[in-house]
Amino acid sequence: MKINYVGNQGDFTMENPEMLSYLYFPIANESGVMSSVAPDLAGDSKMSQNSFLMPPVSCENLHNDKSSRNVWCKINGKTLWSLTGRSAAQQAELFTEDKEPTYLEAGFMHHKITRTSEKNGVKAALSSVSPISGEKLELLKVELTNISEEEMTMQVVTAIPLYARSADNIRDHRHVTALLHRITTNETGILVKPTMTFDERGHKRNEINYGVFGGNENETPIGYYPIVEDFIGEGGNLENPRALYKNPLAPYAKGEGIDGYEALGGVVFAEKKVAAGETISYVIAMGYGDSAEELTAAANKFLSVKAFDKAWDETIAYWQEKVNVSYHTGNKDFDQWMKWVSFQPMLRRIYGCSFLPHHDYGKGGRGWRDLWQDCLALLIMNPDGVRQMLIDNFGGVRLDGTNATIIGSKQGEFIADRNGIARVWMDHGVWPYLTTELYINQTGDLDILLEENTYFKDLLICRGEDRDTDWDISQGEKQKDAAGNVYSGTLLEHLLIQNLSSFYDVGDHNEIRLRGADWNDALDMAAQRGESVAFTTMYADNMDHIAGLLAAFEASGKKTVKIAKEMQQLLVSGADLYDDVAKKREVLMNYCETCRHTLSGEKVEISVSELAANLKGKADWMREHIRKTEWVQTAEGDGFFNGYYDNSGKAVEGDINGGVRMMLTSQVFTIMSKTATNEQVAQIVKSADKYLYDASVGGYRLNTDFHEVKMDLGRMFGFAYGHKENGAVFCHMATMFGNALYQRGFAKEAYKVFNTLFEHCNDVEKSRIYPGVPEYVDAKGRGVYHYLTGAASWLLVTVITQMFGVRGQMGDLAFVPQLLPEQFDANGEAGLSMIFADRNVKIVMKNAEKKAPADYKVSAITIDGAAYDFAGTPVIKRANIEALSKDAQHTIEVTLA
Ligand code: G1P
Repeated sequence: MKINYVGNQGDFTMENPEMLSYLYFPIANESGVMSSVAPDLAGDSKMSQNSFLMPPVSCENLHNDKSSRNVWCKINGKTLWSLTGRSAAQQAELFTEDKEPTYLEAGFMHHKITRTSEKNGVKAALSSVSPISGEKLELLKVELTNISEEEMTMQVVTAIPLYARSADNIRDHRHVTALLHRITTNETGILVKPTMTFDERGHKRNEINYGVFGGNENETPIGYYPIVEDFIGEGGNLENPRALYKNPLAPYAKGEGIDGYEALGGVVFAEKKVAAGETISYVIAMGYGDSAEELTAAANKFLSVKAFDKAWDETIAYWQEKVNVSYHTGNKDFDQWMKWVSFQPMLRRIYGCSFLPHHDYGKGGRGWRDLWQDCLALLIMNPDGVRQMLIDNFGGVRLDGTNATIIGSKQGEFIADRNGIARVWMDHGVWPYLTTELYINQTGDLDILLEENTYFKDLLICRGEDRDTDWDISQGEKQKDAAGNVYSGTLLEHLLIQNLSSFYDVGDHNEIRLRGADWNDALDMAAQRGESVAFTTMYADNMDHIAGLLAAFEASGKKTVKIAKEMQQLLVSGADLYDDVAKKREVLMNYCETCRHTLSGEKVEISVSELAANLKGKADWMREHIRKTEWVQTAEGDGFFNGYYDNSGKAVEGDINGGVRMMLTSQVFTIMSKTATNEQVAQIVKSADKYLYDASVGGYRLNTDFHEVKMDLGRMFGFAYGHKENGAVFCHMATMFGNALYQRGFAKEAYKVFNTLFEHCNDVEKSRIYPGVPEYVDAKGRGVYHYLTGAASWLLVTVITQMFGVRGQMGDLAFVPQLLPEQFDANGEAGLSMIFADRNVKIVMKNAEKKAPADYKVSAITIDGAAYDFAGTPVIKRANIEALSKDAQHTIEVTLA
């Protein structure tokens, strides 16, 4: 089995994809339709948790359920054949030589599966797409060809289950909620409008219409099977429906109404005579509407092959254009695979983290981390609007440095947890800075730091340790000052609050407390005494970098900034204080107390240089403290950092219980934050190779096997080893490992991280997924939770800004490539096409002698053939890029010698 890429936009083909289980493909649009499509067209479609068109599927349903977007053909009035392979007879042939060959052709948001039955003399192609033109529809084109020598008759019937309600009802009142169904048939299809909805929102009048429609240029359906019960018949099922045995078929007529049953999108077309070699085609539209009329009209627009083909072409072009970055290396598969990685952040923006088959949790929202991660990819591919998005996102920060965790559907909307459940992830304060820094570097827009936004306010105060009983929801979710006015501060102030408050929020070992968890959501059982050294290092790094930005501010003539008066308390300094855990906690709690309900609203002006020095001092102290206290040397002489303390107050990593315990996250962030010295990085890599590396699962595992259900650290230890957060190759952290290594100039080691991961993912026999990066690779090598993962954003950004080294530097375009010799093509070239400063640039790196990164440097740059004089550091000034026209692609050649 193999993925064959076609063209240069990530399109691919694959033979017999249904011979891999758990495969699914995303089909969606920006009007809210979110579908998953398996090779046999199993899967589902929904607009939200409470509006599923088809029954919700989790990964096991893909093979267990008998339902799919099934299409049947009755051949010569007797043989029943499923175009999706979903018949009892075809299922029985799967592992025999009678298996029907299938062939997949797919690309961004389009999926076409072809199936041939020599025995029956037919070939079928089923093409799925969700149009970009605004309709809430998924479309399916059905093409059936007579490949025999004889004329035959064909009668096509669809059988798409119409669940039409909330996912919650799959177990909660599935039967009773079917009684709410009001099912009608009209000229082109079947509609379901439940009278009410029963879910956690209470009993409400339902407003959504669901439907399945069919037709072509010349035909409308001749009848319908609108309810499951009649279609399957007594004793039958969706893989062997009894109704289709009847001759002639006896469907319901148009204009009928049936109430109170499980509905079915059973659209029946007239029996047709089909000559040898002839093809008949129909289009099926399934979707959602505010009224029966609106839905029917939307569907009717597409019920012709011509309309479908137009939508198909437009949709393909639309998504290909959106993924406006292309890669060129010596490995064409890698270039195409990266196209999928680049597309994945767009999928996550549409689906959130909930709506593909593995992602059977949550209700569609996104988390705080995702907000900031998604921005990374947007900054590269679609920077318009990111500035405002960043500003708006800062509105989720609380005055105590924590943030809202329930994120509304509108940009900048954050919602109070009405139950006041304290959920503080200690890493949350880290990510906004990282994204803001990338933004500033890509654009040079340092002034964004002076933009203002409000703060989030709810019941939780003092980093989740207390409740503000003076607050209730009627006062609104924005922080107010003593005079009752909504308080605003600069983004710089928000960043300072996030990082400074964390600095003081330490546990017994003077590392920042783990609280609810850090990046690793499954380290969630050490809220009292747990500490995350891993992320402490990143707070240090952030403070150091903020100090750097302040220096740039100063250089631009800005000598002072204004911050909330209360924050001065967080700017105390001195080794005595820093060394003293109790004193630090006191500083933090005093600060939190002064703004427990409101803050004064007064601002003070502070010196930029003093602020920078203050932050730098804190950063240096943290790094030094960690270097001194957290380096682990094992009995076997291996070295790495301890990154955690558990709820018993014990260090988590090192020689423990007769084995070596090592976690990747701890190493990633000590490396990235420059806490680890160069020698330590080399030692860490050696240890990671010894304890964590396993090429058979795609590279570096998240941790060694602790052989203990560690109830004093987190649920991850309850997971079987090698799965998810317990020791899988977790692509997000593996990617960050590669990123950290590149940042420290360990190009070969970083490349190994990416190449092992890529080779594993791209080998479908091993990873058993379509192109792209999954959330993790399980113990047997299968990629799981495909598509919706933060790994994709980070991979994209790392490949561009570190591997290719094409990155913004205060708005200018810098070239710091770390590509290895084998990454250049036969001519010694590698490159990228992307948007920078609103200009379309094609960057070609020339390494004629195929030198290693340590041996090459940028010796010449040309723009559209003209030499560019860059004096020293290889950077093109933004003004020179902005002088280029917007309507053409510009070629920048970078010679490495
Ligand atoms: C998922 C979550 C992410 C979390 C990670 C580790 O990762 O979405 O927030 O940090 O698990 O627990 P993802 O695959 O999205 O990168």
